[in-house]
Amino acid sequence: WDPTHISQLPTETLLRLLGYLGPADLCRCSQVCSRWAQLAWTGSLWRHLYPVRWATGDDHLAPPGEGDQEPNEDWVKNRQHEGRAYQYWDEDADVDESDVSGLVENSWAISAVQREKKLLKGMIQNLLPAVGSSVRSVVLAYSSTASSKMVRQILALCPNITHLDLTQTHITDSAFDCMMSLSDLVVRLSSWSSLGASRFLEHLDLSGCEKISDQTLKKLSVALGHLPPSTHLDRLLERRARLLRSPPLPIALLDDCSPWPAGRQHRAVVFKRRPGGGDPAPVVPRVWLLDPWEPADIEDAVEWSRRRADSDRSSFTTLEGGSSSCCCRRSRRRAHRTTLSTSFLRRYGTAGDVPCGHSSCCLGDATPRTKTGAPCEPGGAAGFQSSCSLGGRWSRDAHTRPLRFLSLSGCYQVTDTGLRALSQRGGLPSLEHLNLSGCLLVTEAGLQELVSACPALNDQHFYYCDNIDGPHADTASGCQNLQCGFRACCRSGE
Ligand code: FES
Repeated sequence: WDPTHISQLPTETLLRLLGYLGPADLCRCSQVCSRWAQLAWTGSLWRHLYPVRWATGDDHLAPPGEGDQEPNEDWVKNRQHEGRAYQYWDEDADVDESDVSGLVENSWAISAVQREKKLLKGMIQNLLPAVGSSVRSVVLAYSSTASSKMVRQILALCPNITHLDLTQTHITDSAFDCMMSLSDLVVRLSSWSSLGASRFLEHLDLSGCEKISDQTLKKLSVALGHLPPSTHLDRLLERRARLLRSPPLPIALLDDCSPWPAGRQHRAVVFKRRPGGGDPAPVVPRVWLLDPWEPADIEDAVEWSRRRADSDRSSFTTLEGGSSSCCCRRSRRRAHRTTLSTSFLRRYGTAGDVPCGHSSCCLGDATPRTKTGAPCEPGGAAGFQSSCSLGGRWSRDAHTRPLRFLSLSGCYQVTDTGLRALSQRGGLPSLEHLNLSGCLLVTEAGLQELVSACPALNDQHFYYCDNIDGPHADTASGCQNLQCGFRACCRSGE
């Protein structure tokens, strides 16, 4: 038996192993050495972020599930008490933040909130600049410390986010300012995809965010983009339905062209040099089997193929002399690896850098491309076809307004004006779940207008005030806040 040192294991295997670790252990691994740090900051390990749960010691990293239960009233009130205790202590200017010994009564609550705040800040400053483009879900539900500024920073650093849960937080309309400012730029520059503005958002939960008003809905509607004419829309919906019928597959990473496992349908991506690149060396393909639902895997695959190229030129022959450093590593030092401009890349390219292959930052002949898959849509990321061939929902040029879930339960400041904003620009063709319980100021007319722009709405998941004789009155569900002690309802106390 010949023992193998862990450092000799292939990158794919190490990544697979790290995938079993929780966030705290991943952070510890990143402190071992530079190679482990690179491994631990791989995007696919950080798709789903639960900072509030992590602060309590729960290492949850799985995708958010439909079956996630609402906590009971006592638990929510306890969280509110913690938040109030911290606020009271934090606002006392004479108290040293590091000394809570004098506050015996609330010290536990205060330190719990402090832990959460520290973790959130650390995540925004250190983690998201490195892996933000791979993040799909951020759950901040019941956070006592999540501020509008933090949400703004998260949205700016995670342009591909699809799931955002801000239930029962104290955020205001300003949390979504980045959406508005970016969308304004889009109108002027027509380059939304490079800026990112949560336009892939599918799930937005604002339940219990009492400071939210029509302004947020206006910004959200603008950020989701403008729907193309109906013929295009039909085609996009058809394509989405087709994708939904094929089940997602787990990631499987293989070297060389091993036979596909029987009965499984994988998407394979083979990285090779484009014709005319000037390097006559034969290509020995490495194949990574990828989850078609998670095109960010492709970025990981390319990134690691590039890194491997430094030590194993036979596997990936794209180096043309000069330095073998990757532009991504430069960008990581600058803490914004996926927001590099073309001019930046060209500048460093001439200085001898190897293009990293990221769809967002590589151009030119040396850029890898996929061997299989449908052709790129016009205007896609130059030289990198995989991002648009493996999943319609991730196509950078899609204008689908993909929001499927929206909860404004308890947002009592929302009025018909906000609902009208959502129904404009093509409506919400994918919306299935809409919760307007406790929205005391909306009327039948406002509801009617929005519902007419939501053809996929499921009446079982459509909630609004029982006192309104609105659309689908016989089949829609009623107000969910009747028995709720902490969210607005016109019948609370009855
Ligand atoms: Fe009217 Fe709850 S808001 S019944």
